[in-house]
Amino acid sequence: MTLTVGITGGSGYIGSKLSGVLLERGHAVRILDNFSSSSQSNLADLDVQVFEGDILEGPDVRRFLEGVDFVYDLAGVASVPESLRKPRECFEVNAYGRYAVLDALREKPIQGYLFSSSVAAIYGDPEYTPVDEGHPVKPHNIYGVAKRASELMVLQEHRKWGLPLTVVRQSNVYGPSPGMKFDSVVHIFVQRALSGQPLKISGSGEQVRDFIYIDDLISAYVAILDSPSVAGETLNLAGGAGSEMSIAGLARMVAEITAERGHPETTVEHMPQQQKGESLDLEVSTQRARQLINFAPEIDLRSGLESTIDYVERILDHC
Ligand SMILES: NC(=O)c1ccc[n+]([C@@H]2O[C@H](COP(=O)([O-])OP(=O)(O)OC[C@H]3O[C@@H](n4cnc5c(N)ncnc54)[C@H](O)[C@@H]3O)[C@@H](O)[C@H]2O)c1
Repeated sequence: MTLTVGITGGSGYIGSKLSGVLLERGHAVRILDNFSSSSQSNLADLDVQVFEGDILEGPDVRRFLEGVDFVYDLAGVASVPESLRKPRECFEVNAYGRYAVLDALREKPIQGYLFSSSVAAIYGDPEYTPVDEGHPVKPHNIYGVAKRASELMVLQEHRKWGLPLTVVRQSNVYGPSPGMKFDSVVHIFVQRALSGQPLKISGSGEQVRDFIYIDDLISAYVAILDSPSVAGETLNLAGGAGSEMSIAGLARMVAEITAERGHPETTVEHMPQQQKGESLDLEVSTQRARQLINFAPEIDLRSGLESTIDYVERILDHC
């Protein structure tokens, strides 16, 4: 069935890729974005309806929601360093902004809604691994606190008003997208390796993280659009085989692949740890998503890195 799908923050890294996939599936796509951390040029090749506006502004949100069947609520400050520099702004947009969208949703019938929370921001130091959705929530910073506040608001609105709302907690997303940025560890490493710069690691780099290729994430987003039964659920989304890797291991893998392709060898440098409170081991269970939406990520870390490196090589060739 063809739907009108609304994406807040749709011009960003995940939203611009999601837009293309939804259009390919025959849906109409509408985007609400204030372009605070993305450019409208990310949408240049996409036949989407663009509403320039702010999720904090009720009239903007109401105008955007008119006639929308399903909402992906992605807008916000997505950078943890940025949220630490501007905690008040982060909390306002990432928590109160969510309230503003949910408040407007109460007035209109929708088929579904997805809020994108974060594995790393929510669970903190794991008490057991792999972390499942029942693991205690212990955010380390204001970004995680705002994400948790949003999750609670989403689930409360579901319980109170019966709205079909779903929370996903996703691991580190990487891979090609029209809105690709160089502010996450994979993309920074790839860009630096291809530019002949050393890969810098804060601390020992022993902390294990999970990395999900953007196409696998988008497949899960689309499966949720097609699965009304996931309303009220919270689902972990993490990568495919071999997707868990220490930061130092990731750096070595990026350096190895770029060297195999004839780029000058890249060194790995360890810097003094900048931020306290980095959890050491964040392996993620996606069993629930597997049960409910047949989530089966297909791209292993090495293949995902190779595709990402191909894409960034092409971008750098055009610069
Ligand atoms: N990228 C990841 O690895 C990752 C991991 C976990 C969770 N998430 C979450 O997924 C969502 C999307 O992430 P992303 O990587 O695409 O981020 P992004 O920064 O590329 O996109 C966010 C978009 O929101 C827009 N925006 C910001 N404030 C707004 C406001 N007040 N009103 C309207 N638009 C606004 C920005 O201009 C941008 O286009 C975010 O909520 C992020 O926290 C991302």
